[in-house]
Amino acid sequence: MKFQRTSPLFYGTVLLGVCGVGAVVAALSILLTANTDDVKLYTQMTPEQVKQEADAIIQAKCANCHGTNPTVNSDLNHLSFGLLQKHVDGAQRSWLIEGDTSLRKKAVDLLKLYRTLSKQHMPPTSYTMVHWGSRLTPYDAKVIAKAYGLPDDKNTNVFVVPIDPAPTPSADQLAKIELGKLLYYDPRLSTTNEISCASCHDLTKGGTDNKPKSEGVPGADGKPQLGGVNAPTVFNTANHICQFWDGRAANLKEQAGGPPLNPVEMGYAKPEDWDDISAKLAQDQDLVMRFAAVFGDRGITADTITEAIAAFEETLVTPDSPFDLYLNGDENAITPDQKAGWETFLAHGCATCHSGAAMGGGSFEYINTFSDLRSQAAPADYQEGAFGRMDFTKDGKHKDMFRVPTLRNVALTAPYFHTGSVDKLEDAVRIMFATQSATPVTDKDITQVTEFLKSLTGRYNGKSLDELTPEDVTPAKYLTPKP
Ligand code: HEC
Ligand code: HEC
Ligand code: HEC
Repeated sequence: MKFQRTSPLFYGTVLLGVCGVGAVVAALSILLTANTDDVKLYTQMTPEQVKQEADAIIQAKCANCHGTNPTVNSDLNHLSFGLLQKHVDGAQRSWLIEGDTSLRKKAVDLLKLYRTLSKQHMPPTSYTMVHWGSRLTPYDAKVIAKAYGLPDDKNTNVFVVPIDPAPTPSADQLAKIELGKLLYYDPRLSTTNEISCASCHDLTKGGTDNKPKSEGVPGADGKPQLGGVNAPTVFNTANHICQFWDGRAANLKEQAGGPPLNPVEMGYAKPEDWDDISAKLAQDQDLVMRFAAVFGDRGITADTITEAIAAFEETLVTPDSPFDLYLNGDENAITPDQKAGWETFLAHGCATCHSGAAMGGGSFEYINTFSDLRSQAAPADYQEGAFGRMDFTKDGKHKDMFRVPTLRNVALTAPYFHTGSVDKLEDAVRIMFATQSATPVTDKDITQVTEFLKSLTGRYNGKSLDELTPEDVTPAKYLTPKP
C-alpha cells in the first residue's frame, strides 16, 4: 500500500509526528530549565550570591507592600477601589522585610516567611492578577528558602520544638532558687502581708489564678482591687522576648519588681517603698542568713529580691507533655484526634505565632487581623482599658498588638485572652480561628485543635501539672495545715 499525499492517514501521521516532537521539546525544555536553575542554585552560586538573589527577588516582588516605606500610587489605588492601600496596610501589620526586633524575634519572621512559601499565597492573587511579573516562581521560592535556611518542601514542622527541662542548677544557684521560691510565696511583699506572687500565680492552677481579673490588695471600699488584664501563667515564661501583655518589662528580674509596687496588686506605690519591704524581711533571721549566703554584702534590696525570684521562675519549666513525647518520636503519646488537631494547627498558621519551645512569647501581634478579637471574646458591655504594646510605647501603630501568650499548659489556664473573658478553651480556639486565620474550619477541626492543646500539659517536680497539689510545690512554712 502506498501513501497518498492527500490521504487522511498521511496528514494524521504528520500531525502526530509534529505533536510528538513538540511535546518532547517542551518536556525537555521544562526539565532543562528546572535543572539548570537547580544546578546553578545548588552548585554554582556562593551563599552570598544566593542571599543577594533572594533579596533582589523580595525587593522586586514583596517590597511594594512589605518594605519600610511603601508608596501607594493613588491612581492605581483608586482603580482598585482602595484594595491596594488595604493590601499595604495588612502587609505592614503582619510582616516587615527588615523585621522589627522590638516587636518580634527574627525566628518568628522567618517562620512566617516559610509559611507563605509553603502556602504560595504571596503576593495576594488579586495583586498578581494585575501585576503579572510579581508572581513568585518555584525557583524564586527555592532561592529564598535556601538563602534563609528554610526547608524547600511544604509543611515541615520548623515551628514548634520540645521544651527542654530547666538545667540542673549548681549548689550556688540552688541556694538562690530556694530563696527565690520562699520570696515567691512571701506575703510580706504586699502592704497587707496577705498577697504573694503565688496568690495570683498558683502553681497548682497552671501558674495562674483562674480568675478573669486578679484580686489585689483591698481598695477604699474594703474589696479586693481588680487588675486591668488577665494574669498569664508564670510557667515557661523565661524565654519570652519580654514580659507582660504590653512587654513593658524586658525580663523576669525587671518583671518581678512590678507587682510589689503596683498599688492595685501588692499595694506599694513608689520605689522608696522597697525600704519598707526590705525592713520587714530583715526581721526574719532565716531570710537574713539566706540573703547573706547567696548575695554576700549586697543585702536585702529590690535588686537582690527580684534577682532571687527570677532565678526561681527560670526553673518553672514544664517538659515531657504528651506532645513533647510525640515530637521526640513516640507516635502513640497523643491520640489520633490530637494528631489531627496538630496538623490543622500547622495548616492554619497557628504555629507561626505560637512557635518555639514555649509555643508563644516570641512576638507582638495584632489581635484583629481578620476580625476583631474583643468584639467576639468580650460581652457587649465590656469596657476595654488595655491596648497592648501601645500602652507602653505610646505609638499608635502598636494599638491592639499583644505579646503572644504561651500555649503550654493552656488547658489549665482559663479564662482566656488578656480580657479573661472566655471560659472555655474550645471557644478561645474558635475565636482565634476567626481572628487569625481567614480560611473556613469545621466544628470537628475546632474540637480536634482543642484536644491537641490538651496534649500540651507538661510536668513539673515529677508530676503532670494538672495533678500538682499544694504539698508538691509550697514551701513548708507557707502550707496552711489541714484542719
Ligand atoms: C499587594 C501587597 C502584597 C505583596 C506584593 C506581598 N504581600 Fe505579603 N501580605 C500582604 C497582606 C495584605 C498580608 C496580610 C494578610 C494575609 O496574611 O493574607 C500579607 C502577609 C504576609 C506575611 C505574613 C503571613 C503570616 O502567615 O503571618 C508574609 C510572611 C508575607 N506576606 C510575605 C510576602 C512575600 C515573601 C512577598 C513577596 C513574594 C509578599 N508577601 C508580597 C500583602 C502583600
Ligand atoms: C494581684 C495579682 C498579682 C500578683 C500579686 C502578682 N501578679 Fe504577676 N501578673 C498579674 C497580672 C494581672 C499580670 C499581667 C499584667 C500585664 O500584662 O499588664 C501578671 C504578669 C506576670 C508575669 C508576666 C508573664 C508573661 O507571660 O508576660 C510574670 C512573670 C509574673 N506576673 C510574675 C509575678 C511575680 C514574680 C509576682 C510576685 C513578685 C507576681 N507576678 C505577683 C497578677 C499578679
Ligand atoms: C498572628 C499571630 C497569631 C496567630 C496566627 C494565632 N494566634 Fe493565638 N494568640 C495570639 C495572640 C496575640 C493572643 C492573645 C490575644 C489576646 O489576649 O487578646 C493569642 C491567644 C491565643 C489563645 C488564648 C491563650 C491564653 O492563655 O489566653 C489560644 C488558645 C490561641 N491563641 C490559639 C490559637 C490557635 C488555635 C490559632 C490558629 C487558628 C492561633 N492561636 C493563631 C496570636 C496568634
